[in-house]
Amino acid sequence: MSEAKKLFIKTYGCQMNVYDSERMAEAMGAEGYTLTDVVEDADMVLLNTCHIREKASEKLFSDLGRLRPLKDARPDLKIGVAGCVAQAEGAEIQRRMPLVDIVVGPQAYHRLPALARATGPQVDTDFPAEDKFDHLPERKALRGPTAFLTVQEGCDKFCAFCVVPYTRGAEVSRPVERILRETRDLVARGVREVTLLGQNVNGYHGAGADGDWTLGRLIRALAEVEGLERIRYTTSHPNDMDDDLIAAHGDVPQLMPYLHLPVQSGSDRILKAMNRKHTRDDYFRVIDRIRAARPDILFSSDFIVGFPGETEEDFDDTLDLVRRVGFGQSYSFKYSARPGTPAAEKTPVPAEVADSRLQRLQALILEQQRAGQEAMVGREVTVLYEKPGRQPGQMVGKSDHLHAVHVADATGRVGELARVRVTASLANSLSAVRIS
Ligand code: SAH
Ligand code: SF4
Ligand code: F3S
Repeated sequence: MSEAKKLFIKTYGCQMNVYDSERMAEAMGAEGYTLTDVVEDADMVLLNTCHIREKASEKLFSDLGRLRPLKDARPDLKIGVAGCVAQAEGAEIQRRMPLVDIVVGPQAYHRLPALARATGPQVDTDFPAEDKFDHLPERKALRGPTAFLTVQEGCDKFCAFCVVPYTRGAEVSRPVERILRETRDLVARGVREVTLLGQNVNGYHGAGADGDWTLGRLIRALAEVEGLERIRYTTSHPNDMDDDLIAAHGDVPQLMPYLHLPVQSGSDRILKAMNRKHTRDDYFRVIDRIRAARPDILFSSDFIVGFPGETEEDFDDTLDLVRRVGFGQSYSFKYSARPGTPAAEKTPVPAEVADSRLQRLQALILEQQRAGQEAMVGREVTVLYEKPGRQPGQMVGKSDHLHAVHVADATGRVGELARVRVTASLANSLSAVRIS
């Protein structure tokens, strides 16, 4: 019998890519490939790419450059590029980097095994009519206690800065039954927490037995799955937080009190130029409604600074919004002009101005994050253990509020939900001791 072939996957970008990489690994597993984390041992290298900012895209080309000596030494090594750069640039990638054997877009992953078997350069960036996940093999092996699960993909919102509607295509929701089946299967394999994924996950409208379901209804059905202890979802758009979903935050105990709700800017002028279709007041109102349902909820957001036309006054509005909401954490990015998006035509803000704004915003976000963590010290929280910590007698996991927690616990097991008392706030995590 020939030795199993080895597959090395590098994943860039968002959680959806993490999920897709898992599914591609399973598809290639059915072809006799096992995963390796040593690139030199691989028979196939797959780079699952992100196109969201210029830096993310360029990383692919520097990584491909680094693979060249390997490919020169072993011409039978297969190199594949998947993900959003594959979708955006297609065959252009092979023109620039002839060492690439396969270019496969996010909607064509079920065809990866066939592309890998074929000889000569392969490109597949179609948006086929069928659900790619229907054609990927079922998952089998035992796995860790947390999992991502894509329920919705693509986006019809067309924010002026964003490539996602072009790389992931039009918004599509997966049918309810498939999600329930996949969840039961994950739970049977050891999963206790699922994070439902979608570029606009709260716009979910998948087919159920009696018509389309909303995300709120889907979450209520998932809460009935025996053994599933925690449910999260990301990423949401402020305009799609409907009453039922908000109510679920108050009455579904498995739905965790943490929500990533990107706002991008605190300035109405910039929000309009970004085509976000909501104002800062709309955002405050949504936050208030969710807090009314679940007072202890923590919010996080994404921000873009230096969007074309952003003035110092607009930026002050962003700082003001951050102060008013008080985020548990947030991600902030310097605007990056993306080819093909409407904002790329506009005059950019000078780099030094954007840099200085990014620094000021990040300082404020960090201050809020630290204060939020400090406020947890002395409190009792629940942690789902994900792995042993670096020190002996220590377990690591996440609290309900998504804080990373290191727990002193000599007998803890991965997958356990433990009650702990927080003893200290560190740079990006909390320390705690087990109490029951
Ligand atoms: N679907 C999600 C976000 C997808 S991209 C949403 O609607 O919020 C993740 C984040 O990357 C965005 O929230 C935005 O803050 C950032 N981003 C997207 N395009 C960008 C660009 N051209 N330059 C800088 N940041 C960008
Ligand atoms: Fe991009 Fe806007 Fe869609 Fe989010 S909502 S994926 S930022 S276009
Ligand atoms: Fe990046 Fe595509 Fe995700 S551009 S952020 S990998 S949807």
